[in-house]
Amino acid sequence: MPHKSGRHFLQIPGPTNVPERVLRALSQPTMDHRGPEFAKLAREVLSGLQGVFLTKSPVIIYPGSGTGAWEASLVNTLSPGDKILMFETGHFATLWRDMGTRLGFQIDFVAGDWRHGADPAVVYAKLADDRDHQIKAVAVVHNETSTGVVSRIADVRRQIDAARHPALLLVDTISSLGSIEYRHDDWGVDVTVGCSQKGLMLPPGLGFNAISEKAIAASKTARMPRAYWDWEAMLRDNKAGFFPYTPSTNLLYGLREAIKMIMDEGLENIFARHERFGRATRAAVKAWGLDIVAQNPDEYSGVLTAVMMPEGRDADAFRQIVLERFDMSLGTGLGKLKGKVFRIGHLGDFNDLMLAGTLGGVEMGLALAGVPHKAGGVLAALDMLASESLAPVS
Ligand SMILES: Cc1ncc(COP(=O)(O)O)c(C=O)c1O
Repeated sequence: MPHKSGRHFLQIPGPTNVPERVLRALSQPTMDHRGPEFAKLAREVLSGLQGVFLTKSPVIIYPGSGTGAWEASLVNTLSPGDKILMFETGHFATLWRDMGTRLGFQIDFVAGDWRHGADPAVVYAKLADDRDHQIKAVAVVHNETSTGVVSRIADVRRQIDAARHPALLLVDTISSLGSIEYRHDDWGVDVTVGCSQKGLMLPPGLGFNAISEKAIAASKTARMPRAYWDWEAMLRDNKAGFFPYTPSTNLLYGLREAIKMIMDEGLENIFARHERFGRATRAAVKAWGLDIVAQNPDEYSGVLTAVMMPEGRDADAFRQIVLERFDMSLGTGLGKLKGKVFRIGHLGDFNDLMLAGTLGGVEMGLALAGVPHKAGGVLAALDMLASESLAPVS
């Protein structure tokens, strides 16, 4: 491999760039996870995370990936054969459905075109129809990382309430937590599933469940077998600042630092910063004359933009050129979008000039790959970034 000077551009929609401050925090000596120093760290991160999820309820931290946290949300709240309402918003919603099926749940999977979020009107219709309350949970992916489409969780909540239905609301915020507006308590979510490697700017390795009182009550009677993912032992031991098994000690040092960074910037500023990256990226894509996957402006993502390749062009061949020539990783198309779409990640520890560089690499790559497009995308984004400055909320 020839030497590559400068920094690699990791512009996939997670794992994201880990800031120096977090890398330094991670590199501290590993500590005794049963000692008093650890208990202090654990208490800090457990309460700090509540500020990120915007909840007063407990947050569980697993050594694990997002997929584990998905499983935890299901096995702690439900019983074998329970019915779950899910929406086909893209690749990750489909994987969550597959997991539910394998665990023996009955899934009502509302078909979708991968270009729209979960439809709140369908939530209402399905629940209003379900007079004997067979549906025990509604599970929605907030930011569909395969498509750059955001489901409107507050509207989904309103429709559950309008139907006066007791189903739990489970939400996957794996690629939206700490980036796109999300409010666990205000939106009445019962289990929010998250993880470390996206908006939280950490390496992969931590999965989260933020859990409402209603979810905790459901877990007391839920009959799915569970061991590693069991909330009960976690909640009990976390009270004293400990874990029922070995926690990811060094990742928790990093988490403490990442939470500090998030709180210093302020969640509202973070949400606005990402929305602006989304607008600038879409301005570039529009100027190139290309389409994005998301079709409803109310559902555009500030975390990533999935760009449709013109017919007959291979998105992965284009990505390969960008990687070789500019040392930049872009996200591949997933599932049925394989080869048809590339994804630009613009989340986490990211600023205007990083976005300018990213879009510059995409525009040069389009030309090198011979992809039909118009010039001027980068300029359109720069104009937008220069004219629309951010007014920080303090
Ligand atoms: C929305 C969403 N859900 C679930 C997952 C699975 O998470 P993990 O790969 O950490 O297990 C991902 C991963 O990218 C995701 O983006």
